[in-house]
Amino acid sequence: MANFETVIVETDLLILGGGMAACGAAVEAAHWAKQNGLKVTLVDKAAMDRSGAVAMGLSAINQYVGLKDGTNSVKDYVDYVRNDLMGVTREDLVANIARHVDSTVHLFEKWGLPIWKDAEGKYVHEGRWQLMINGESYKVVVSEAAKNALLKDSLGEIFERVFIVGPLMDGDRCAGAVGFSIRENKVYVFKAKATLAAMGGAVHVFKPRSSGEGMGRAWYPPWNSGSSAYFTMKAGAEMTCQEVRFIPVRFKDAYGPVGAWFLLFKSRATNAMDGNYMVERKAELDNWLPYGRVKPVPANLRNYLGMLDIMEGKGPLFMRTEEAIQKIAETYKDDPKAYKKKMKDLESEAWEDFLDMTISQALLWAGTNVQPEEKSSEIAPAEPYFIGSHSGASGAWVSGPEDLQSGDSKNEYCWGYTNMSTVKGLFCAGDASGASSHKFSSGSHAEGRIAAKAAIKFIVDNNTAPNVDQAAVDAVAAEILKPLEIYETHKGETTDPEINPNYIRPRMFMFRLQKIMDEYAGGVSSQFTTNKAQLERALELLEFLKEDSKKLAAPNLHELMRCWENIHRMWQAEAHVRTVLFRDETRWPGYYFRADKPKMDEEKWHVFANCRFDPSTGDWEMRTRPIHRIFA
Ligand code: FAD
Ligand code: ADX
Repeated sequence: MANFETVIVETDLLILGGGMAACGAAVEAAHWAKQNGLKVTLVDKAAMDRSGAVAMGLSAINQYVGLKDGTNSVKDYVDYVRNDLMGVTREDLVANIARHVDSTVHLFEKWGLPIWKDAEGKYVHEGRWQLMINGESYKVVVSEAAKNALLKDSLGEIFERVFIVGPLMDGDRCAGAVGFSIRENKVYVFKAKATLAAMGGAVHVFKPRSSGEGMGRAWYPPWNSGSSAYFTMKAGAEMTCQEVRFIPVRFKDAYGPVGAWFLLFKSRATNAMDGNYMVERKAELDNWLPYGRVKPVPANLRNYLGMLDIMEGKGPLFMRTEEAIQKIAETYKDDPKAYKKKMKDLESEAWEDFLDMTISQALLWAGTNVQPEEKSSEIAPAEPYFIGSHSGASGAWVSGPEDLQSGDSKNEYCWGYTNMSTVKGLFCAGDASGASSHKFSSGSHAEGRIAAKAAIKFIVDNNTAPNVDQAAVDAVAAEILKPLEIYETHKGETTDPEINPNYIRPRMFMFRLQKIMDEYAGGVSSQFTTNKAQLERALELLEFLKEDSKKLAAPNLHELMRCWENIHRMWQAEAHVRTVLFRDETRWPGYYFRADKPKMDEEKWHVFANCRFDPSTGDWEMRTRPIHRIFA
């Protein structure tokens, strides 16, 4: 469009996103870039201090292995992740993060993050792998270190409030990215020798439980809208575990996390009849062996046992906060003063858990007169999210470290630079990389560091400026701005700007996408259950939606961003539906249930289900990849 300026930025390493993985990447890249005289550029759609999933802060660091204490080994962590993901994980990637994550946590502490300590000065654990923090300013602390590293000595540049739409290619090599400012009329073209995608996971692909007045409230942040998945797919990268969505059980309606309650306070969850589904439904776990009998019980199976209660009409489920608090305080009963103090401490810990991380949950408690030491709270499984860093696994298929391969895994899992996707020069970390679950905030930061170091090595070995066709850049820029043009052309044709036969606004488009996914791909309304016929119908309807995506319309830059966010979500949806259809079994009940294939088929499907969109033909390829045990 005539009134838009095109800004061209040339750099060596381009980091996309400003969240945990991107901040880790920035710190590490700065170190190696300085030694090699290279430039690093970071682009975030928001303001780094409060961007991404850690925007509100967190109350725990969920991955700390404690290698120095000698209590846990890297193998212990790999065993934990493999079991939790029902056997489907890349052990090389998980181990690589596990062996580096402690140093990331020590950096956080050095930068000023308060980690709880006991009387002996030891970290206070929430559970075996989790540390308690006073984490309201977690993201501010982590992003300050990243900014300092990049801006010191004019080593790099940071662009905030620039939304990345898609990749720029030089043949089979990623040559950077294209996006636009959400504050000024500017299209950005970033040309880079290597690109690191760290734009988080995807929320609002499925219809959320919160609708109407609660719309926008979700557990994972709605502004993580599938940009990592879209970017890597459009570049032609092979993707993995696109079927492994994550459904967390959360405090109902405000989505407060449950970890502190289950692990720190050791709370029970019970149904309306006071029954504990983890006890009463234990026998069900035998249908999912060998994973049904591991400890802890995999997250999806924990969900599933609760869901069985709900489906039998035994809901709602409750987190027994009052019982847990009373039980801990009881040990102080003989000393009334100590008891009173303990109760006060527990009360403030309970509130701080949410005030640090999910403020709306504290607001909901306040607004509904809940005192957790007196009254239990409802919990419920949330809508599905795509998040490779938590207990889901979706993301790009990336190369693993050479020294952690064993036997055949070397051929299958390692093609050079660690964390590089199957596209040359395109690296991924955090939610963007797949099959390496349970990295959370700390592991994502560590993985960002790992990926950035490898990306700098790639640049040193391939130090040529990418060759980018100007005509292709012009075409992409025009496509990006098309929704503005469509709105301008047709806005006068109806009296209500929401409704127009020639365009669709992003909000309505998102509702359509969410309805398809909810009803046909196993969302909340269909009790997370689907089958082949429903998935095929979902694909048919997604095809119509794709056609209509060409008619998205935007009156301003914010709406333009929403148009592209929803296109990104739509691509994540398609990859998911295709892969759930491809995997002819049910492996993760509690995340989704294939009613036509209700059992796990360990013989045939103990494999990765991978997919790839071919940008030259527009076709999707589905394939399996073997699972190699490295830590047998
Ligand atoms: P994010 O940190 O989400 O970063 C994504 C970045 O990409 C953001 O900067 C975003 O602005 C940017 N971005 C997105 N799209 C674009 C685009 N198109 N263009 C440019 N930039 C873009 N972990 C723990 O360790 N402990 C906990 O207690 C814990 N609790 C949690 C509680 C909640 C409520 C939530 C939501 C998460 C929690 N997590 C916890 C998980 C943790 O936050 C994530 O695992 C981690 O942040 C993932 O890192 P990431 O870098 O992949 O994504
Ligand atoms: S958070 O990311 O929003 O904080 P959540 O509160 O569910 O997630 O979990 C925090 C940590 O506790 C994660 O490492 C998760 O795997 C673990 N966790 C939560 N509930 C349980 C449970 N019942 N048993 C074992 N581990 C759990």
